[in-house]
Amino acid sequence: MPHSQILGTGVYLPPRVVTNFDVMQMMETTNEFIVERTGVRRRRHADPELSASDLAAAACQSAVADAGLSMDQIDLVIMNTITPDHADPGCAFFLQPKLGLSGIPVIDIKQQCAGLIYGLSIADHFVRAGTYRHVLVVCAEMLSKRIDGSYDGRNIAILLGDGAGAAVVGPAKDGQEGILSTILHADGSGAKALVTAAPGSGLGRKEHITKEDIDSGRVHFRMDGKAVFENGVARMSEAVFESLSANGLTMDQIDVLIPHQANLRMLEAIVKQTGFPTEKVYVNVEEYGNIASASLPIALDEARRKGMVKPGSLVLLVAFGSGFVWASALLRM
Ligand SMILES: CC(C)(COP(=O)(O)OP(=O)(O)OC[C@H]1O[C@@H](n2cnc3c(N)ncnc32)[C@H](O)[C@@H]1OP(=O)(O)O)[C@@H](O)C(=O)NCCC(=O)NCCS
Repeated sequence: MPHSQILGTGVYLPPRVVTNFDVMQMMETTNEFIVERTGVRRRRHADPELSASDLAAAACQSAVADAGLSMDQIDLVIMNTITPDHADPGCAFFLQPKLGLSGIPVIDIKQQCAGLIYGLSIADHFVRAGTYRHVLVVCAEMLSKRIDGSYDGRNIAILLGDGAGAAVVGPAKDGQEGILSTILHADGSGAKALVTAAPGSGLGRKEHITKEDIDSGRVHFRMDGKAVFENGVARMSEAVFESLSANGLTMDQIDVLIPHQANLRMLEAIVKQTGFPTEKVYVNVEEYGNIASASLPIALDEARRKGMVKPGSLVLLVAFGSGFVWASALLRM
């Protein structure tokens, strides 16, 4: 079976820059704490009238143009977000008309920060099987709408930014390699370490949501920061070695490693644990904060535009997110 390939990438980053000093107006925190513990200095927040599907649409338009295609050549859309336009139906249904693609299939996935790699994996299988020719994978987040500056919410709130990134997957051009492997993992025994409990059917009562859920903060992210940090570092480091071994490669053959931009201290720990040379690791978390699933496609697109990822580069993506979910993708660009 011929390989699939990323034919184009695109992003949308809102223009409004929010510094740590702006975050200090939203909650009890300090610039020193944020920089020391997370490395984040700035993030982007979108205009509140916008939704995840608006950000996604802009990223998709630019990815399709970058691929040299027109939107009507897209056969399937896969979308990942933890900030959907509405609770249901899936966010891809709100995105689709904005792309003028009514009638083609759309799939919503909910793989948190590993959304890009899960989406690439699904797209890769459909393209290689010949089911669909051009698949748009898009990750978009409006995390500014999920900031809870309370004592219990501020450990994660300081990280969060908005943005969207998309990739077009299609058949690899003659003789090229493209997506070499995607390796997916999950361990739901960690699901409660980073969770938004309400609304839901798992609250042991009749109501899907109550006023008490809002008052008690159950509608916000709650994170066991230490568990997420330790698991994130361990699983993403393992994913690096697993991908190398599955592809019969050594670290020095990889041109660029792009990990999920969770937190600078996590990225530093991954570098230490894997021994990966720092200069080959793409990092932009200081500028954009953690944009959940959108972080990885934005980093990939930016690394391409800055020339760190070139045509022919061997790029390793690794991601980790709540669930727990983790994954790797090895790409020949
Ligand atoms: C976010 C992170 C820096 C918080 O550090 P932590 O030590 O786990 O934080 P805790 O919630 O245990 O709190 C430790 C102390 O810091 C304080 N703290 C937490 N968030 C704070 C904030 N935003 N500002 C100031 N102090 C804060 C807590 O109140 C607590 O102080 P106390 O002991 O006096 O009560 C850390 O957990 C982390 O990096 N985790 C990885 C999470 C991540 O990147 N997730 C992304 C999902 S992929």
